[in-house]
Amino acid sequence: MPESFFVLSKDYLELAIDEITTLAKMYDRFSKIKIISNLVIIQSKTNWNEISNRASFVKVSGQILRKMSGLFLDEGNFEILKNAKTFVCRIINLSSNQFNIPELENSMGDMISKFSHAKAKMENPDITVYLIFTNKENFFGFSKTMKQKKRPKKVKTYPHELDWKLTRVMINLIGIKQGETICDPFCGTGTTLLEAESMGIHAIGMDFDKKMFNIAKENIKENKFKSEIFNTDFQEIEKISGKYNGIVTDLPYGLNSKTSEKPEEVLKRFISVIPKRKKIAIMYKKEIGDNLKLKGSKKYEIYRHKSLTRTILIK
Ligand SMILES: C[S@@+](CC[C@H](N)C(=O)[O-])C[C@H]1O[C@@H](n2cnc3c(N)ncnc32)[C@H](O)[C@@H]1O
Repeated sequence: MPESFFVLSKDYLELAIDEITTLAKMYDRFSKIKIISNLVIIQSKTNWNEISNRASFVKVSGQILRKMSGLFLDEGNFEILKNAKTFVCRIINLSSNQFNIPELENSMGDMISKFSHAKAKMENPDITVYLIFTNKENFFGFSKTMKQKKRPKKVKTYPHELDWKLTRVMINLIGIKQGETICDPFCGTGTTLLEAESMGIHAIGMDFDKKMFNIAKENIKENKFKSEIFNTDFQEIEKISGKYNGIVTDLPYGLNSKTSEKPEEVLKRFISVIPKRKKIAIMYKKEIGDNLKLKGSKKYEIYRHKSLTRTILIK
């Protein structure tokens, strides 16, 4: 089975590792996963690009050609360059050893030029060849340059809107598949709905504030997406529970957004109406959730500034 590599951003490493692991298992439940610091090696029948396209915190990814015991490369390894016109070599050093990276990249490039007809090209090459060093093992792999996917557009934004990467990671952490539906009962500007639809997931949004409801509606329309949005209290989630597979939401903090009642009360009432047997990823102000002693299968803490730490709770 093919092996892929994913170098993750260290900003939210625990979230990033759990996200990639959930995605790998979602696409192929027999995936084998190995974690070496911020490098994740996945043996799976799913193409690396499919996983990488969904993930929020992947810096570099590709397919592994083989593990290496030293720096020796042979002709057989360059089969992949057969149809490529251009290539570039990149060294990723995750080990504690010091290397002269530009020098190594140059010698690797020279070596490849001897075996293949492809020409070295720094910008937008057809193939990037990677040598990855870790303290345990070294890997030799490649990736093809893919067209960057277009991000959804927002015509209207608002100070309380959530960062798209954190929104996407929440959707991914509960393993929502393409064609399934999520509900965001505190949708605000519609970040969750836009993110879901950009991944081929249907979405239903709610917001009790008419102003936010209109903003979300405009944002959905701008992207020609089809999410249903309701200008209503979140309590509606109970009535339409047959229409969605999971809930992904970011509750009010009482800072920039209107709230129907105090944020504590909103969270308490919300927890009491969450339908059973749904996948849930919710975000709230840490101290509010701690006071309510909320429990889930996993919790992540996201520090924003000294008066705001958020919790993501997976249920
Ligand atoms: C933190 S914001 C959500 C931000 C959103 N994730 C975004 O990226 O724009 C919380 C939202 O909850 C809405 N809200 C507050 N109380 C509500 C209630 N009882 N029912 C539905 N929405 C409510 C607010 O109007 C606000 O837009």
